[in-house]
Amino acid sequence: MARSRSGGAGHPPAPKFPAPAKPDPSGGLARPEAIQGEDEKEPSLRPKSLTEFLGQSSMKENLAIFIAAARERKESLDHLFLIGPPGLGKTTLAQVVAHELGSDITVTSAPALDKPKDLAGILTKLKPKDVFFIDEIHRLKPVLEEMLYIAMEDFELDWVIGQGPGARTLRLGIPHFTLVGATTKAGNVSSPLVSRFGITCRFSFYEQADMEAIVRRSAGILGVSIAADAASLLAASSRGTPRVVNRLLRRMRDFAQVEGGDTISLKVVREGLRRLEIDSLGLERYDREILRVIIERYAGGPVGAETLAISVGEAVDTLEDYYEPYLIQTGLLQRTPRGRMVTPLAYAHLGRSRPDSAGELPLF
Ligand SMILES: Nc1ncnc2c1ncn2[C@@H]1O[C@H](COP(=O)(O)OP(=O)(O)OP(=O)(O)O)[C@@H](O)[C@H]1O
Ligand SMILES: [Mg+2]
Repeated sequence: MARSRSGGAGHPPAPKFPAPAKPDPSGGLARPEAIQGEDEKEPSLRPKSLTEFLGQSSMKENLAIFIAAARERKESLDHLFLIGPPGLGKTTLAQVVAHELGSDITVTSAPALDKPKDLAGILTKLKPKDVFFIDEIHRLKPVLEEMLYIAMEDFELDWVIGQGPGARTLRLGIPHFTLVGATTKAGNVSSPLVSRFGITCRFSFYEQADMEAIVRRSAGILGVSIAADAASLLAASSRGTPRVVNRLLRRMRDFAQVEGGDTISLKVVREGLRRLEIDSLGLERYDREILRVIIERYAGGPVGAETLAISVGEAVDTLEDYYEPYLIQTGLLQRTPRGRMVTPLAYAHLGRSRPDSAGELPLF
């Protein structure tokens, strides 16, 4: 359930806890590997230090100062809350922080913590200044959350001994540690828990220049050469997400290899993206399917997230965490109080006429 290790260097990250199996009414659309975390097979691509961690510059600069200050005072770093869509580097940053602090990191995920003894077992084994990383912290059970409040604030642990009227509560001291909590759903984390984090890092989709730098770094590690224009197109087609760009880079390496070339050229990337059905905005087939369903079945929206998820055959969590943020970022989708709506840009991107455009009949 939890693993302890030194500095987070070169080790595989915590296991993921997939959503329960569900029927697939989508007609068998492939689930993007980006959600499954293919990067985790090749941990060498994961940056280990703040210098290797590219992009997110203002967040990184602040963090570097807080880490340096904590080190100078020989104190633990304040608790750190990481928020952002999948694949932007939350787990990576937790490991980088431990590395920069020169501390050990213990990694777990909220769904793996079932009973108070699971959490107590980890907390009592931490050493001073250790990093304790809880992934998917929005899924923590309330009873464990309460336990965590005291641990985070007072570095103490309430432990009940015995049962019934004879039960006693022992308060144990635990070392000053840094909790790093990560979530894709900040809105689902209770405010008492949020208020106990001293530092909040909100990840945004990576800029084109940072994505290109990530492609170059990863290509260097994988030992594959890539032309500048090819790297640029790949970066632009990877939805501002390092996990996606690393995945696509590996696929382009495959395409180049099979074609007998030792460099990933612009032609290889163009053809590769076409084969993978990734379009000029970096949308995958599922993204377009979501937009198409809203347009065809719900007249452009609004449609509720639950209904939409059922219509496209995806878990509502995946819809909200993975697909929607990028569709919103690209200006194709809007979240309104009444539900999801596509924008005029979505009609244009899919080559559809809007139902209300003057005199034109919709194509569906
Ligand atoms: N800033 C970065 N610079 C270079 N590579 C990065 C960066 N951030 C992430 N990566 C790469 O992207 C991969 C995905 O990052 P990571 O697993 O940390 O994402 P995550 O936010 O934890 O995703 P999830 O929400 O699915 O757990 C990493 O293995 C790493 O190779
Ligand atoms: Mg993660």
